[in-house]
Formats: sequence, C-alpha cells, structure tokens
Amino acid sequence: MPQSRIAIFPGSFDPPTLGHLDIIQRAAAMFDTLVVGLLDNPSKHPMLSTVDRVALLRKVAAPFGNVTVESYHGLLVDFARSRQASVIVRGIRGGADLDYERQMADTNRHMHPGLDTVLLTPSPAVAHISSTLVRQIANLGGSVRGLVPEAVEAALTARAHAGRTQQV
Ligand code: PNS
Repeated sequence: MPQSRIAIFPGSFDPPTLGHLDIIQRAAAMFDTLVVGLLDNPSKHPMLSTVDRVALLRKVAAPFGNVTVESYHGLLVDFARSRQASVIVRGIRGGADLDYERQMADTNRHMHPGLDTVLLTPSPAVAHISSTLVRQIANLGGSVRGLVPEAVEAALTARAHAGRTQQV
C-alpha cells in the first residue's frame, strides 16, 4: 500500500484569513492528511490567543475530513518529524513572499533533508489578504468582512466590543 502523504501547513494565523482558508482547501485536496500547525509564540503578543486561534481554525477547517489543527512550540522541523509529515505547505501571494519562503524552505530542508516545501498560490480573489493588514483594520475599528471567515469576523467584532466596553 502506498505511504500516506502527511503535510503540515504552519503559520501564526493571527488571525486566520480567507487566504489561509484557500490554501487549506487546496492542500486538503492534495494530501491524505493536512495538519494545520499554529506556532504558539506568546512573545509575539498575538492579537488573538493561541486557544482562540486554534478554536477558530478548527471551526474553519471542520468541513474538511482530512484536516486537523494543532499548536506547536519550537522548531517546525521537529513538529513535522513528530507528525511523520514529509511536506510543508505555505502560501505565496507574490514576489515579496517568495524570497522569505524560499529561505525558510531551504533552511528547513537543511535541518531535515526529507522535508520538502510546497508553495501554493491562492486564488487571485484572496491574494491581497494579509493577517497583518487585517490586524490593523480590526485594531482601528474597520470592517474585516470579506477578508476573514465569518467565525473570525465574529470573534474580532466581539473583541472590539469588549475593548470599547473597557474604555468607557
Ligand atoms: O505565518 P507566519 O508568521 O509567516 O509563519 C512563520 C512560521 C510560524 C511558519 C515560522 O516562523 C516557523 O516555523 N517558526 C518556528 C520556528 C522555526 O522552525 N524556525 C525556523 C524556520 S526556517
């Protein structure tokens, strides 16, 4: 029987966007199992907690039967080894992403020669979306509709309301 192909889609997902969802959908169709790996790095002071981001990603990934969501600490290559993954999946939106992704892919392969990185381009309809810009919009009180899945929009709206209540 051919070996099952396990891929990891790692990231900060702060917050998960429709661009991430697009990559999850494409990768879920390519591999037997896709593990969405969320780097748990509190020193980055994320907008949403690790627990919230994992819960949101699980909601977003629920329609895909072969996708699981987990957080990880430390090196991505160690997480990949622990899950018997042979592939890392990352999305690239354009040239600006490519240099960084290539460097990361080559460094990860240096540390773990059996591990290849597959770079997927998202649909042009979502290729402009970045978590950094979504964070800016959300922090400045703008609407993130159409940039993030509905569950994430609801979480960001609730967070904004909680912030407003605290200010009064
Ligand atoms: O969504 P991001 O922030 O671009 O994802 C970057 C991430 C989390 C994939 C990368 O920073 C990572 O894997 N960090 C874990 C530590 C590690 O393995 N560093 C060496 C990577 S070359």
